[in-house]
Amino acid sequence: MVGLLEEKKKVYLKTYGCQMNVYDSDRIIEQLAQKGFEATPREFDADLIVLNTCHIREKAAEKVYSELGKYSNLKSKNPKLKIGVAGCVAQAEGNEIIKRQPLVDFVVGPQTYHTIPTLLEKLTNGQKVVDIEFSTQEKFENLKLTEGKEYKPSQFLTVQEGCDKFCSFCVVPYTRGVEVSRPLSEILSEAKTLTEYGAIEITLLGQNVNAYNGLDDSKKRRDLSYLIHKLSEIDGLKRIRFVTSHPVDMTDSLIQTFRSNEKLMPYLHLPIQSGSDEILKKMNRRHNVSDYLNIIKKVREARPDIAVSGDFIVGFPGESDRDFERTLEVCHNVGYASAFSFKYSPRPGTTAFEKKEVPEYIKKERLTVLQDVIRQHQSSFQKNLVGKTLPVLVEKKGRIEGQVIGKSPYLQPVFFSAASALIGKIVDINITRSESNSLSGNFCE
Ligand code: SAH
Ligand code: SF4
Ligand code: F3S
Repeated sequence: MVGLLEEKKKVYLKTYGCQMNVYDSDRIIEQLAQKGFEATPREFDADLIVLNTCHIREKAAEKVYSELGKYSNLKSKNPKLKIGVAGCVAQAEGNEIIKRQPLVDFVVGPQTYHTIPTLLEKLTNGQKVVDIEFSTQEKFENLKLTEGKEYKPSQFLTVQEGCDKFCSFCVVPYTRGVEVSRPLSEILSEAKTLTEYGAIEITLLGQNVNAYNGLDDSKKRRDLSYLIHKLSEIDGLKRIRFVTSHPVDMTDSLIQTFRSNEKLMPYLHLPIQSGSDEILKKMNRRHNVSDYLNIIKKVREARPDIAVSGDFIVGFPGESDRDFERTLEVCHNVGYASAFSFKYSPRPGTTAFEKKEVPEYIKKERLTVLQDVIRQHQSSFQKNLVGKTLPVLVEKKGRIEGQVIGKSPYLQPVFFSAASALIGKIVDINITRSESNSLSGNFCE
C-alpha cells in the first residue's frame, strides 16, 4: 500500500478562531512541508484537508460542520482524500465529530497536532484516529521552525497556552487546558530564527499572555516583562506586541515596560467583558470596573499615546438595561481605539450554560448600540492620527498596483503608494486619511 507521505501531496488548511490557531496552522503547514506537502488555497485540489477549528461561540463551532458537509463530493471524486479536524472543536467534541460526520478521518486537539505527519500513515485502510491528549510541552518540543524559510515581516509566537481562570461563559480552559508557559530559552531561540529569516515584528500570544511565568535556564520563573526585555535584545527584532491580557495579571512591572522598552508597541488589548460589577461577578472575572479603570490610568501614565482595545459580551444571563448602560459608560470612559463585541453564546460545560438567557432581540439591540459607540471612539482615535507622521512596518502588496500595506504602531493597517521593495522595512508615513478600519497616507522619502 502506498503511504500518503511517499508522494508530493497538497494540503488545504482552513483556520477559524483566534491568533493562537493562526500560529498553530502555520506550524501544521511547516511540519507537513517537511514531509513533502505543499499548501494549496483550493480544497478541490487537495489530498489532505485540515480544519483548525474554534469552539468559543456556538456559531463558530457549527461552521465546521457546514464546511465538512461540503466535502462529501470531493471525497467521492477522490477516495484517497483525507480529512482532519484540529483545534478547539476537536478537543471539545473528540469522537463525536466522526460520529456526526463520518467523512472525517482524524481528530487532533490543539496540543496534539504535531502528531499529524505520523498519524497520516495510520489512515490507510480507512482507519480513523482521534488524539486529544493534553501535552503542551511535548507539542512545542516537536515543532521546529524551518531554517532558511522566508518568514513574513510580522509573526506570531505562542509563549503561553491554556487558562486557569474559568470565566463562567468560556470554553477555553476546557479546550486548551491549564495554563502552561514555554521555557524562556525556547521562546528566545524561536524569535531569533524568525528574525534571522525575515520577521521584524513578533506578537507574543497566549490566552492569558500576561500570566506568562516560564522557566529560565537556571530554573527561575520569569514574567512577561522580563521576557519582553530579553527579546528586545535581538537586533533584527524591531517591534514587540502581546495579546491577550487579563486584568488580574496586569502587573506594575509589565505596565512600566510600556514606558521603558522602545520596542514594545503602544497597543494593549485588555478585555473587560462588562461594565457592571454585578455581571463581572457572575462572569467570575475576578476584577471589578474600578480595578480595570485604574489599570488603564496607570498604563496611560506610562505610555500616554497607547491604543487600548478590549472585548465585550452583551446579553450575559441577568444583564439588565442598567448593567448594559454601565458597559457603555466604560466604553466612553476608556475611549477604545478598537474593540471586539459579541452576543453571549451559551456553551455546554461552562457554569453559565443553564442560566436564564436574555432574549435574542435584546442581545441584538445591545450589540448594535455598543458597536456604534465603539465605532465612534475608534474613529476619533484614528482621526487624531491624521496629519501625523507614523513609523509604519511595510508588510505586503496592496490590491491596487503600486500600493503597499503596512501597520501603524497602534495596529491599524496603513495603505500607501510605494515600491514593494519596501516590504519588511519600517518607513515614515504621513497619515492623510482615516477609513473605518484603516489609515492611508504618503510615503515620506
Ligand atoms: N483570554 C481572553 C479572551 C479569550 S476568548 C480574555 O480573558 O479576555 C475571546 C473573547 O471571546 C472573549 O474575550 C470574550 O469576549 C468572547 N467570548 C468568550 N466566550 C464567549 C461566549 N460564550 N459568548 C460570547 N462571547 C464569548
Ligand atoms: Fe476564557 Fe476567561 Fe480564560 Fe479569557 S480568562 S480564556 S475569557 S476563561
Ligand atoms: Fe477559539 Fe480555541 Fe482560540 S476556542 S478563540 S480557537 S482558543
